Amino acid sequence: MELQEAVRSRRSIRQFLSKPVSEDIIRELIADSLWSPSWGNTQPWEIVVVTGSKMAEFKQKSQEALMSGHQVPTDIPMPQVWPEAYLDRYKELGKSVLGALSIAREDKEARMQHFVKMFGFFDAPAAVLVAVDKTLALEYAMLDAGIFLQTFCLLAHDRGLGTCIMAAMVTYPDIARELFGVPADKLFVMGAALGWPDPDAPVNCFERQRGSMDDFVTWVE
Ligand SMILES: Cc1cc2nc3c(=O)[nH]c(=O)nc-3n(C[C@H](O)[C@H](O)[C@H](O)COP(=O)(O)O)c2cc1C
Repeated sequence: MELQEAVRSRRSIRQFLSKPVSEDIIRELIADSLWSPSWGNTQPWEIVVVTGSKMAEFKQKSQEALMSGHQVPTDIPMPQVWPEAYLDRYKELGKSVLGALSIAREDKEARMQHFVKMFGFFDAPAAVLVAVDKTLALEYAMLDAGIFLQTFCLLAHDRGLGTCIMAAMVTYPDIARELFGVPADKLFVMGAALGWPDPDAPVNCFERQRGSMDDFVTWVE
């Protein structure tokens, strides 16, 4: 796949086939992603790959935590306030996802079921979580972690795999820390669900939105 096509056609996958991803493929994807740039070549990403029975346990515990109203602070604070334009885009995404799933906005029960699916990581057979050391200049380390994840997602897409970068995966860092034996001085930045996309699922096919160049760019000569 050409790079431009990969960038343009990668999309978040929210329904996966029940087909495992081999360890060999994940290893190859990570080996290539490790060539991502980072500040001063520090390579601050610490990666946890989750598959098999641990993945099943991770999903189950996260779903239970959601349904029981479990609340813990995330390792990286979640945004509390968003400027209007960002909020509008967030709401539009919600409409697209729920629309694709034929869930009416006022159907609280069905919306909750969608959240439960989300905390089951959309049935993905694998997950890749990125953590960074607490002592680092967090903003820069997070930027590096994000670059790593984007590289990973593009490479996965190139192989026909699907990904969804997921804040939901790091909502309960206590669960992840205990299940994966990750010490408290490592902060979970983000995770990505990984698997084979279900090509027929409408939630993987809705039209995505992007702002225009004028929304983001100031040209200076
Ligand atoms: C930092 C980050 C966190 C995200 N968390 C979630 C999540 O918890 N659940 C989800 O369904 N999508 C999540 N997404 C996916 C975004 O909604 C998606 O990237 C965005 O809508 C753009 O759509 P696209 O990836 O299909 O191009 C996240 C993406 C990023 C970059």
